[in-house]
Amino acid sequence: MKNGQIWKDTDGNDIQAHGGCIIEYNGVFYWYGEFKGVDNMPGKWQTPALGMGCYSSKDLVNWKNEGLAFETDKENPESPVHTSKVFERPKVIYNEKTKKFVMWAHIDSADYTFAAAGIAVSDGPTGPFKFIEAKQPNRQDCRDMTVFKDIDGKAYLVHSADWNKTLDIALLNDEYTDLAGLYVSVMKDQTREAPAVVYHNGMYYMVTSGCTGWLPNSALFSRCEHLLGQWKLIDNPCEGPNYRQTYYGQSTYIFSVKGKDYIMFDHWHPEDLKTSGYSILPITYDEENKTMTITWTDEWNGIE
Ligand code: GAL
Repeated sequence: MKNGQIWKDTDGNDIQAHGGCIIEYNGVFYWYGEFKGVDNMPGKWQTPALGMGCYSSKDLVNWKNEGLAFETDKENPESPVHTSKVFERPKVIYNEKTKKFVMWAHIDSADYTFAAAGIAVSDGPTGPFKFIEAKQPNRQDCRDMTVFKDIDGKAYLVHSADWNKTLDIALLNDEYTDLAGLYVSVMKDQTREAPAVVYHNGMYYMVTSGCTGWLPNSALFSRCEHLLGQWKLIDNPCEGPNYRQTYYGQSTYIFSVKGKDYIMFDHWHPEDLKTSGYSILPITYDEENKTMTITWTDEWNGIE
């Protein structure tokens, strides 16, 4: 699979799972993301919000289309998840206690002023995810976001807030279906989005992009010993051609397989979003200096 390009599923169709995430459950990988498999709305850098695509794989290369795991509302224009609105960056986590799969996503009005998080729950990995509600987490605005499951099983919503000037890290309840009330605002006035979080050897790392819409900019990583601590922006972790524009990509998720960490990027084509590409690149760490490096590779061939 050529990094930076759109990838095909096992039926030969374009994979529609943008702004996505990959989780492992019972030896199978599930890739969830924005389904954008239609033309842009005329004159807009936006497609109708159709829901969350879901693909399964055993090797992270051959992806079987599992259909729309979450479908937006086609009937009721008042619904926060109506197809005329914004449904972005869905992230799914599995709750060991309730045995449910919980989806969090950026839910917005077409003009991005509603700025909320939406929650949906499913009994199985491929859905159907049932919508619970859309709300502003801890009464803060929420745009780009991710969820992060910590080593102790606690989960957090990490989202751009304060008109994208700041990132909030908010503890979820034990069921992962709501906010627990505790949150911190980090990287204040640093204007970062597209957060992807990972824990490695005593340190939490977060890769973010700048806020230039669909257009690429420089990624930066930040780090902190405590998830709810004083995060500091450090440097651009990317190496290789076009590293200053993040290879014309934008961070969406970090996942770990067999002790190695990988980051997934979207390579947006704003004028025809359904053709936007993907890449999965390896992350390495300098343990002494506590830094991370993302290295460009032309191809993603899965795990050895
Ligand atoms: C980006 C964001 C994307 C999408 C886009 C819309 O900044 O990361 O998820 O919201 O803006 O312009």
